[in-house]
Amino acid sequence: MRVPRSFIRLITVLISVLILCGVAAMAAPQEKKSQPATASESGYSAQYIGSDTCKTCHEDQFKNVQGTQHFKTFAEKGRGQDWHGCESCHGPGSAHVDGGGDKAKIFRFAGKKSEQITERCMACHENNLEHQNFNRSVHAKNGVTCISCHSVHSATVREKLLVKKSPDLCFSCHTETRADFMKPFKHRVLDGYIQCQDCHNVHGSVQPKNLRANAAQDAVCYKCHAEKRGPFVFEHEPVRTEGCTACHTPHGSTNPRLLTRARVNTLCLECHQNFYNGPHPQNTKSQACTMCHMGIHGSNTSDVFFK
Ligand code: HEC
Ligand code: HEC
Ligand code: HEC
Ligand code: HEC
Ligand code: HEC
Ligand code: HEC
Ligand code: HEC
Ligand code: HEC
Ligand code: HEC
Ligand code: HEC
Repeated sequence: MRVPRSFIRLITVLISVLILCGVAAMAAPQEKKSQPATASESGYSAQYIGSDTCKTCHEDQFKNVQGTQHFKTFAEKGRGQDWHGCESCHGPGSAHVDGGGDKAKIFRFAGKKSEQITERCMACHENNLEHQNFNRSVHAKNGVTCISCHSVHSATVREKLLVKKSPDLCFSCHTETRADFMKPFKHRVLDGYIQCQDCHNVHGSVQPKNLRANAAQDAVCYKCHAEKRGPFVFEHEPVRTEGCTACHTPHGSTNPRLLTRARVNTLCLECHQNFYNGPHPQNTKSQACTMCHMGIHGSNTSDVFFK
């Protein structure tokens, strides 16, 4: 079947409109405090001259940005030159060009403090919900910045401009975490079924440990284990009060079911010391508590979680 030419043209127009809308959407929330580079702050005075001039000497950099999302900004005409192209990140370039490529007269990322780099990128990215907590994140506070994980010109993963594929990216700094995911029982991050980012927002969150939460601020675990959420007529108190990690190790464990203890009973008895003062005959000692107390996350029918 042949697709009519007019149809293709229509699709092309639609796509262009969508792209322009994307740029407009990006542009709208940027009207705020952060500004891209200005000549004065850099210690030299310069004007914006446009990316086409940069291209004449830096064709490689031009080409490698061309294939990425940032190229959107090159086509943007609605805002000042300081918001698009090479100079949105590198600052005004006239002095650099007049100086025959004087490195001291252009914003270079090499050797900059992490805060300066973050600020530069945040000029456009801070209103994104994913990133707005970056400055408060453990990463930012420990000198990790955008280009520790992203590269504008030489990303090995073009999509999302990552320096390295996740989770290898994360393991390059979090070596001890890799070991967690190699344990016999684990969330299958190494096989690619789950991502670190499913549970963590590396760009920062309001939860401890950069953990994600849903709109109701419920634990990240409910996203995939919704059946554990209830509400239950009979709640097992620690599930609600202490959360899943009261009994489970989130990454990986040598214990089945990712439990924090090798034997279920050891775990239960940590909180239920008075167990044998209760209704149990001695012979229950040798059985797993969860043989009888099966609905351990909560139950709608049994106040002792028999199912
Ligand atoms: C006339 C040629 C020319 C033009 C036009 C030009 N540059 Fe350069 N640029 C150079 C040269 C040459 C160097 C390398 C200087 C060195 O290695 O000492 C350089 C270096 C740089 C660096 C620093 C690279 C590093 O190693 O950190 C950046 C960033 C840069 N240019 C950006 C730009 C931008 C942005 C534009 C457009 C506004 C631009 N250049 C236009 C010639 C040019
Ligand atoms: C979105 C921000 C951004 C844009 C747009 C951008 N750069 Fe860069 N540039 C960077 C960062 C960050 C680095 C540091 C290396 C990296 O992350 O890839 C860099 C590094 C460089 C370097 C040093 C050599 C290198 O590749 O590391 C040159 C030269 C350069 N950029 C020129 C340009 C030119 C020319 C353009 C326009 C075609 C441009 N940049 C557009 C952010 C940007
Ligand atoms: C002039 C504005 C501007 C600046 C400055 C800027 N970006 Fe972007 N960035 C964009 C736009 C526009 C997109 C396209 C996605 C969108 O519309 O939200 C984008 C997308 C991205 C993406 C996602 C790419 C993808 O494939 O999904 C990453 C990662 C990124 N930027 C990192 C950076 C980093 C790191 C810096 C600082 C070195 C930076 N940006 C500076 C405007 C900017
Ligand atoms: C610790 C590593 C790390 C740091 C630091 C980091 N990022 Fe990311 N970023 C990622 C990963 C991983 C993804 C991919 C997320 C995914 O696929 O779900 C990503 C995705 C993105 C995206 C894609 C769109 C989106 O909303 O998911 C943008 C834009 C982005 N980062 C910008 C930034 C900016 C700007 C900074 C600095 C303020 C930054 N990142 C710092 C790891 C990092
Ligand atoms: C450039 C090094 C680097 C990279 C890459 C990196 N991190 Fe980090 N990360 C750190 C540092 C440094 C800290 C703060 C000190 C610490 O807790 O180890 C940190 C802290 C964290 C924390 C919070 C720990 C706490 O105790 O609050 C989490 C969660 C985290 N990183 C997840 C990730 C994930 C997921 C990735 C990959 C997408 C990643 N990191 C990539 C360096 C890095
Ligand atoms: C199933 C959800 C989940 C996944 C997937 C996950 N994490 Fe975590 N991570 C957590 C939780 C929950 C904590 C907090 C543990 C606590 O407070 O006891 C945590 C804690 C951390 C910490 C702090 C130190 C520690 O071990 O307690 C780091 C660093 C970390 N994660 C990195 C990563 C990296 C890197 C990946 C991917 C390779 C990853 N996480 C995948 C849920 C997850
Ligand atoms: C992105 C989805 C996702 C999130 C978020 C998630 N899990 Fe899981 N979880 C899974 C999947 C898928 C499996 C099944 C693993 C398998 O088959 O290897 C699993 C299995 C488990 C198991 C059972 C392991 C076994 O041996 O049967 C436990 C316990 C568990 N998760 C606890 C948690 C806790 C606690 C959290 C929050 C810190 C969490 N999960 C967050 C997807 C998720
Ligand atoms: C009071 C301790 C405790 C708490 C808190 C707890 N669990 Fe469990 N969980 C267990 C025990 C014990 C098992 C093993 C049950 C068995 O062996 O039959 C288990 C098993 C699981 C399993 C695998 C079997 C199944 O029932 O699907 C998943 C998934 C799971 N828990 C997720 C969670 C999540 C998500 C949370 C937080 C909402 C959570 N758990 C909180 C004790 C707990
Ligand atoms: C982190 C502490 C903690 C752990 C671990 C724990 N529980 Fe509980 N459990 C509680 C608390 C607190 C209550 C509610 C207060 C009470 O009745 O003692 C409770 C209530 C119960 C009840 C209902 C009792 C009643 O009187 O309402 C049963 C049955 C129970 N737990 C069984 C178990 C079993 C079986 C395990 C092991 C799989 C276990 N618990 C692990 C803290 C814990
Ligand atoms: C053979 C089945 C069985 C096993 C195994 C068992 N229980 Fe029970 N459990 C019961 C029965 C029956 C009751 C009483 C129910 C009632 O009063 O309606 C009970 C009640 C409880 C209660 C509430 C009453 C109290 O004592 O406060 C707790 C807590 C409890 N069990 C914890 C445990 C723990 C912890 C284990 C494992 C060490 C365990 N059970 C193993 C059958 C069992």
